[in-house]
Amino acid sequence: MTLILGLETSCDETAASVVRDGRYVISNVVATQHDLHERYRGVVPEIASRAHLQNINPVIHEALEQAGVTLHDLDAIAVGHRPGLIGSLLVGVSAAKTLAWSAGKPLIGVDHVQAHLHAATMIATPPGTTQDTDKDPGPLDFPALGLVVSGGHSSIYQMRSATDLTLIGSTIDDAVGEAYDKAAVILNVGYPGGPKLDKLAQQGNPGSHDLPRSMLGKDSLDFSFSGLKTAVLYTVRGHPKGRGAAAKFERSIDDLTEQQVADIAAAFQAAAVDAVTAKLKRAIKHMAEGGAAPKSLVIGGGVSANSLLRTRVAQLGEQLDIAVRIPAFAYCLDNAAMIAGLAHVHHESGNFADLDLPAIASGSV
Ligand code: KG4
Ligand code: ZN
Repeated sequence: MTLILGLETSCDETAASVVRDGRYVISNVVATQHDLHERYRGVVPEIASRAHLQNINPVIHEALEQAGVTLHDLDAIAVGHRPGLIGSLLVGVSAAKTLAWSAGKPLIGVDHVQAHLHAATMIATPPGTTQDTDKDPGPLDFPALGLVVSGGHSSIYQMRSATDLTLIGSTIDDAVGEAYDKAAVILNVGYPGGPKLDKLAQQGNPGSHDLPRSMLGKDSLDFSFSGLKTAVLYTVRGHPKGRGAAAKFERSIDDLTEQQVADIAAAFQAAAVDAVTAKLKRAIKHMAEGGAAPKSLVIGGGVSANSLLRTRVAQLGEQLDIAVRIPAFAYCLDNAAMIAGLAHVHHESGNFADLDLPAIASGSV
């Protein structure tokens, strides 16, 4: 049995989790900072790092306490060390190094994006609960096709294993979560934008507006969402006269009824999800033609919590007869269970970090 404590501080969630054998989540503590960033309608990096500093120790204590373990019971300390906001990452990386050094435990550095793709294998198993083997999602079957859709990524990976990934498609402008967040600002639905827009879209008519689904080239596996975002802006406010800050629009969001706003939200959601599923279909074909037909289709990242995307990906798997792996809601958004989970794979292969493990803002696999 291997017990790993994972830490996650790459953006605006301070999280710690204890995971057994890479998949059984014994505790999963997440302190969100939504109230601190709400008035800015987006994450302010400086505020995020300061809040991580305040939250990190209590969150670690709680994760250990809920799991009923002490530092000495652990086999390793893992931390998401790339990619993310540098000031935020540094808090988690420094905390993990301090714990590893003081408790004499190995340190493991985990890639946040790879961890999002491990999240679909995780199952809650808090102390005192018996393991529900019927609900156990089991490990991934490789080769797999991985899709990470979050605030920072819209990326498609060919996966030979949990840590051996090749990027085969990515966004050329906004990430899909970013497009959700920006559309949510235009539609004035509140913060955090993605989940609120998702909820509102369920009350609207997706056929009310024909918004663009950017496909790029015929064989392209890349995404583009900036045209969709602009289309939402023009649908809400009409076409502008003039440019930049001096542009005058025909109307404002306040001129629309609640139903009209819900209709635009639904049309946006339909276009965004269509674009994602169209690229997944192409990517599956691409892998099959390259002689590595995927045995599973796995998604992860904040937008994998989206109601329509979950349904559509499940349908795609059924149509193409590929096992679909979607994380439980608790493991879609940023969390430390996925970090401690993937760290198990590194632990098994003896892939430990030194105390000079860097925090790396950009780049991933
Ligand atoms: O993975 P995550 O917590 O952080 C990053 O690594 O970026 O993803 C956050 C993103 C945000 O853009 C948020 O708006 C989006 O995930 N999101 C959603 C939903 N829940 C979260 N987007 C669409 N529908 C949702 N239900
Ligand atoms: Zn993330």
